[in-house]
Amino acid sequence: MKPDLLHVQGLSRRFGGLVALRKLTFSVAQGEIVGLIGPNGAGKTTAFNVITGTIPPSAGTVRFDGRDISGGPPSRVVVAGLARTFQSASTYPAVSVAGNVYRGMLSRIAGSTVGRLVGRRGGMLAAAQVPAEIDAILRVTDLASWRDAPAGSLPYGLQKKLGIAVALATRPRMLLLDEPAAGLNHEECNDLARLLRLLRDEHGLTLLLVEHHMALVMELCQRIVVLVQGEKIAEGAPEDIRQNAAVIEAYLGAPDYAHA
Ligand SMILES: Nc1ncnc2c1ncn2[C@@H]1O[C@H](COP(=O)(O)OP(=O)(O)O)[C@@H](O)[C@H]1O
Ligand SMILES: [Mg+2]
Repeated sequence: MKPDLLHVQGLSRRFGGLVALRKLTFSVAQGEIVGLIGPNGAGKTTAFNVITGTIPPSAGTVRFDGRDISGGPPSRVVVAGLARTFQSASTYPAVSVAGNVYRGMLSRIAGSTVGRLVGRRGGMLAAAQVPAEIDAILRVTDLASWRDAPAGSLPYGLQKKLGIAVALATRPRMLLLDEPAAGLNHEECNDLARLLRLLRDEHGLTLLLVEHHMALVMELCQRIVVLVQGEKIAEGAPEDIRQNAAVIEAYLGAPDYAHA
């Protein structure tokens, strides 16, 4: 068995009287693609927010590569090698595609101890590698022909892909993706599946995928964790989850799932 890269233990998060996440425990092994699914409001985005240090947990721990990263801050989580994408397109619309990727690179440099210590010199040292690294990321994500276009001028599907490119610019070992297929057409969705598989197979990335598009989840993930009202109700291989009575009852059988 491969060692766990991410291990989440007893993670809880309250918002006032609402328990958005209740004692969530799961692991993701190095090189795995794991799905995190469940109805709207189940706590999936909250789980991402707590894991990446955007908000602190009410209880529980997050370990990444054996290190305790519970409670962030997000810059420390990024430097540890864990990056995320957001549910909505989160790029700077007036900034070029390359400029957005550069901002992702800066967040890595700014968050590292070395970057803080050497300040401007750190920026200049990194500057020598910047163009080549931006080009490499744009090649992988197939955005090279849009290099100088303002992010806001890209079709929606490509804006979401740029969100992945920005996350890749932090040189992560693991990527958390929050509904990357939402709003994508069939072709864009196939393209996304290809990219995610490439990132895992060719670039050694480990992926945690929140997604309602069940065909995509079932096709890509080795393992799926199911959240309902903040609690894990099931975990297993796609074929087991598909047939799990509790999962069908709480999520897969719901009318609003029928389109996926
Ligand atoms: N910052 C917040 N303040 C208050 N309640 C929140 C906050 N973020 C999320 N929630 C609530 O927590 C629950 C889980 O939300 P969320 O994690 O966004 O679910 P999902 O991503 O699975 O749709 C929802 O009831 C939501 O309204
Ligand atoms: Mg969400």
